Amino acid sequence: MVNFKQEIANVIGKIINLDTKELESYIEIPKDVKNGDYAFPCFRLAKELKKAPMQIASEIKEKIEINNEIIEKVEVLGGYLNFYISKQLLTKDVLTQIETETYKKIKIGEGKNIVIDYSSPNIAKPFHIGHLRSTVIGGALYNIYQFLGYHITGVNHLGDYGTQFGKLIEGYKLWGEEYEIEKDPINELTKIYIRINQACKEDEDVLNRCRDNFKKLEEGDKYCTEIWEKFKNLSLKEFQKVYDLLGSHFDSWNGEAFYSDKMPEVIEILEKTGKIIESQGARIIDLEEQGINTPCIIEKSNGSTTYATRDLAAILYRARTYDYDKSIYLTSYEQVLHFKQVFEVAKLLGLDEKYIKGLTHISFGMVLLPTGKMSTREGNIIKLEELLEEAVQRAEKIIEEKSPDLENKKEVAKKVGIGAVIFNDLANSRIKDEIFDWNQILNFQGETGPYIQYTYVRTKSVLEKVGYLPKVEEIKIENLLDEYSQNVIKIIDSFQDTLVQVTKKDEPSILARYLIDLAKAFSSFYNENKIMTEEKEVQDARIYLTYSVSKILEIGARLLGMEMPDKM
Ligand code: ARG
Repeated sequence: MVNFKQEIANVIGKIINLDTKELESYIEIPKDVKNGDYAFPCFRLAKELKKAPMQIASEIKEKIEINNEIIEKVEVLGGYLNFYISKQLLTKDVLTQIETETYKKIKIGEGKNIVIDYSSPNIAKPFHIGHLRSTVIGGALYNIYQFLGYHITGVNHLGDYGTQFGKLIEGYKLWGEEYEIEKDPINELTKIYIRINQACKEDEDVLNRCRDNFKKLEEGDKYCTEIWEKFKNLSLKEFQKVYDLLGSHFDSWNGEAFYSDKMPEVIEILEKTGKIIESQGARIIDLEEQGINTPCIIEKSNGSTTYATRDLAAILYRARTYDYDKSIYLTSYEQVLHFKQVFEVAKLLGLDEKYIKGLTHISFGMVLLPTGKMSTREGNIIKLEELLEEAVQRAEKIIEEKSPDLENKKEVAKKVGIGAVIFNDLANSRIKDEIFDWNQILNFQGETGPYIQYTYVRTKSVLEKVGYLPKVEEIKIENLLDEYSQNVIKIIDSFQDTLVQVTKKDEPSILARYLIDLAKAFSSFYNENKIMTEEKEVQDARIYLTYSVSKILEIGARLLGMEMPDKM
């Protein structure tokens, strides 16, 4: 396998006196094929060399001797040097990479530990569509980091603690028998929660009893703990249905309650820093000087701990247990302030600098539901499980129309329906609000999950029809030098780079867009170039390219959390 970036860096390194590893890290893959295969931006050098980027680019170009068989051409465009790689070499290299499965041996993350805190729904509350996003984006990041060789730990930081449980316990004591908790736990518990909240507003005594319950729970009271555990188990059983449909996996289920005995240490450390102050009976840390106007509450006026304190305890625990290089938290942007506060206060915990630097809150936009069936009416909560099931049913209907003779329609519908929802969550930059529109999500021709699956199925059916796979060394590369084949080759070549970009920005949409680009490039190739032809040599080359696309689509989609059907 040729490392083209490294080759280019070596060429530039002979001209500029800079470490080639550093030069290599500057090299980009241009978005537009018109700008070459690789680009070297001269902007960062401009400062050091005290020259305009364009001048630097021209000067380097002057000195580059193109006498190697790798670089075909160099051009200056703005402050960039655009490199054109030998098509022959690049094509051969890409096919060989597929044949030898080099993508399976990527080890850039080796020796690095990542913790990712995702999904993290709240017990006895509905698993809402925001948690779905967290689950899907987190799951994709999990897979991609792992694929690149990182050691990753996925944590489901369940919201299983806090004063609301004191209330729920009280409500359960009062009216538990009136509700069908076993049958429909989350809906029924939510009803109890709404009712007890009302009662608290009307009667101070009830409120005090609720507080008392939570205190008892913190102290390990048997009765309270038993009820709490019951709520937790029932909720987890419900959540698991969604996780099963999505294929989600977690390495740790340590939720907020797990930290109940770990908070005293945090408070002790913070007390020693002298930064805790009293304010209206609560104990807080002021963050005004750090540019955060809202203080972080460490202990409420009634002495109970907070969501923030539990997150601080979790930071301490995760640093010690997982020795993380990066610790990612995935929530909607509503929690930006929370994590700003927590990460700021974490600096007071006396942790190694590395653990503070590694704290990364990754936020995402809201999911806007179309009005109608899915909007939340009073006391009527959309169940995610139902949403996913609806996706499967809708997919089944489409498949029924398009391919009535297909075998295993149900199984395919599941892959297509769930895949469509997952892809939709990942298709756009995560910070954007997303509109959930069934027609768009399931459109087989649009930029959707089903389109990726459909393209994959096409590659499969071509390969099945021909019934053989040539060897790369026997392939005549000349047959793949046309525009359409080359487009495909170049996209495949940037697969690894794409994955690295995803981890740099924690943005799985980069991979989702990549797969769309690959699927589109393949469709053009397929429409323009007949794969099965009389000329065996041409056919062999095209078959291998088809096989390569098939592989990358499959791996890429799997990394996003989608399953691929063989037929649809
Ligand atoms: N349970 C929280 C919620 O539903 C999300 C938790 C995110 N993780 C964390 N460590 N705070 O909003």
